[in-house]
Amino acid sequence: MSGKIYPVDPAFAAKARVTGEQYESLYAESVSDPENFWRRIGGRVDWIAPFSQVKDVSFDADDLHIRWYHDGVLNVSANCLDRHLTHRGDKTAIIFEGDDPNDSRHITYRELHADVCRAANLLRNLGVVKGDRVAIYLPMIPEAAVAMLACARIGAVHSVVFGGFSPDSLAGRIADSQVKLVITADEGLRGGKKVPLKANVDEALTRPGTTSVETVLVVKRTGAPVAMQTPRDRWWGALVAGQSAECAPEPVGAEDPLFILYTSGSTGKPKGVLHTSGGYLVYASYTHELVFDLRDDDVYWCTADVGWVTGHSYVVYGPLANGATTLMFEGVPNWPDTSRFWQVVDKHKVTLFYTAPTAIRALMREGEEPVRKASRASLRLLGSVGEPINPEAWEWYHRVVGDGRCPIVDTWWQTETGGILITPLAGAIDAKPGSATKPFFGIKPAIVDTNGQVQEGACEGNLILTDSWPGQMRTVYGDHQRFVETYFKTYPGAYFTGDGARRDADGYYWITGRVDDVINVSGHRIGTAEVESALVAHPKVAEAAVVGCPHDIKGQGIYAYVTLKAGEAPSDALRKELIAWVRKEIGPIASPDFLQWAPSLPKTRSGKIMRRILRKIAENAPDQLGDTSTLADPSVVANLVDERLIR
Ligand code: WT7
Repeated sequence: MSGKIYPVDPAFAAKARVTGEQYESLYAESVSDPENFWRRIGGRVDWIAPFSQVKDVSFDADDLHIRWYHDGVLNVSANCLDRHLTHRGDKTAIIFEGDDPNDSRHITYRELHADVCRAANLLRNLGVVKGDRVAIYLPMIPEAAVAMLACARIGAVHSVVFGGFSPDSLAGRIADSQVKLVITADEGLRGGKKVPLKANVDEALTRPGTTSVETVLVVKRTGAPVAMQTPRDRWWGALVAGQSAECAPEPVGAEDPLFILYTSGSTGKPKGVLHTSGGYLVYASYTHELVFDLRDDDVYWCTADVGWVTGHSYVVYGPLANGATTLMFEGVPNWPDTSRFWQVVDKHKVTLFYTAPTAIRALMREGEEPVRKASRASLRLLGSVGEPINPEAWEWYHRVVGDGRCPIVDTWWQTETGGILITPLAGAIDAKPGSATKPFFGIKPAIVDTNGQVQEGACEGNLILTDSWPGQMRTVYGDHQRFVETYFKTYPGAYFTGDGARRDADGYYWITGRVDDVINVSGHRIGTAEVESALVAHPKVAEAAVVGCPHDIKGQGIYAYVTLKAGEAPSDALRKELIAWVRKEIGPIASPDFLQWAPSLPKTRSGKIMRRILRKIAENAPDQLGDTSTLADPSVVANLVDERLIR
């Protein structure tokens, strides 16, 4: 942690949406009188039938319910499109920047409205009705946003699956929510490489539990030949072209589901995080406007893929609800070269830029020249999300990318929270590199010790939230009990984030990372249990234990300990085979960075694997193993320490 403070820039504050004084008074109101605060903020959305109820929440595990604006009726897509047509119809809604630097285009609000209406009519004609689940497995192309908004228009529930996930991962998600229709593309294109999306869908749909899928719509992206199965598979382009560009938005209850997004937990399969319509849109749009200090002429670019929550709230819903210009980038930061981000910033005169620490660290390694050769004069604010940003990366982002003139907002939140919860507001809160700083309006963080006692003042412990906010997830799709158990049982009466945090004497929060068995790899969540179950599914593997390890670029890497079945011999070839196996089972983001052979694993006498010890070995801290006296066989550890892969 660096002790440096970057005070609010007075010139920025003079024009900012929120100043320091306003932050203090609004925050005080938001937590002392949430009912009236959120009643007022709820008015930023267009309601078909206005709400009279604001907040109806209990965090009590026996009576858990979270409802916001629940008698209100709205349509999310109408809020993102129709209401902008009178004043902003010709304003650019989406700037598409393709993988190929010569491929870009602007889509106005009017055009986007027509595209979404056609797609919504198509879905309706294919029998999709309110409440049906639609999986979206697309690259970062405008059709991804169109598909999401088309679902929202007819009240269907989308489940976007990141294009980097394997056929098995896609199948698991399709089966879990009994998806009726899948929208995909022939191929994806990233960094000049092709991703066989349609072929992956074909394979996924051979897996058990996926027979609910009636239709697969295929967007032509690369034009590669793909197998089309009749009558299941249909071309998106030909069908949407024949639809009417008018489609009446379906009235949707505030608490009707908007989307499901699967995310990894500490145990079991990924869970379907369910977000609803009214509160989510209020929260996503409000945070987007204030955290990014949005103005009408901004060009806003969030580099996240729509396969993650950041892409939902801060590429699509927040920006479009606010009538902003949002940039969708299909490519990667280092292709055709490591200057790409900054070329795109110059090309489209990007003013607000939001990316992940892993990207900053990777680009930092390439030196300043690729950044300096672009002007970046349009930039006025920078954001960070996904994992703790180390102060060195923060300083580089500020000094080099922002030329020392752009404030940085380090935004802490989660798939579950729907929107940003802890963040600086650039005109109001002095920055400290590495700290997400202070809670947003309405957010009540607290830090608890291991006994669940809430700590006061400067302290360190586990991070909980003691009250609700409108963007909070409502349940785990199909498994409400899991929702209760995962988030509300550890610290009764509060939402447990799974993160550790420190609060300093100024009341600033410093997120220290996950305290559960979740690894944060390049800002993406991987459950250790998922990787372990993929490994033990291999015929030669007897047992596996997976932990996080430090990684210069990714933040955390994946470190696997593998015990082979009797008679199997370790070899480099087998190591490669197992890594490739996990990649195939889950997707490239879950590939172990390190795989150590473990003749046996350290276990307690009751047979529980002692991960604490495995974590320390993976961190190259064999002198910090702590108490090993409860191990069934302490000699196991000496071998693992001797053979450790990081030194
Ligand atoms: C986990 C949530 C939020 C959208 C992207 C990730 C970590 C996220 C920060 C930050 C420190 C952060 C936390 C959190 N995290 N942002 N600014 N500083 N840590 O969403 O996949 O649901 O992951 O990401 O550990 O719990 P997610």
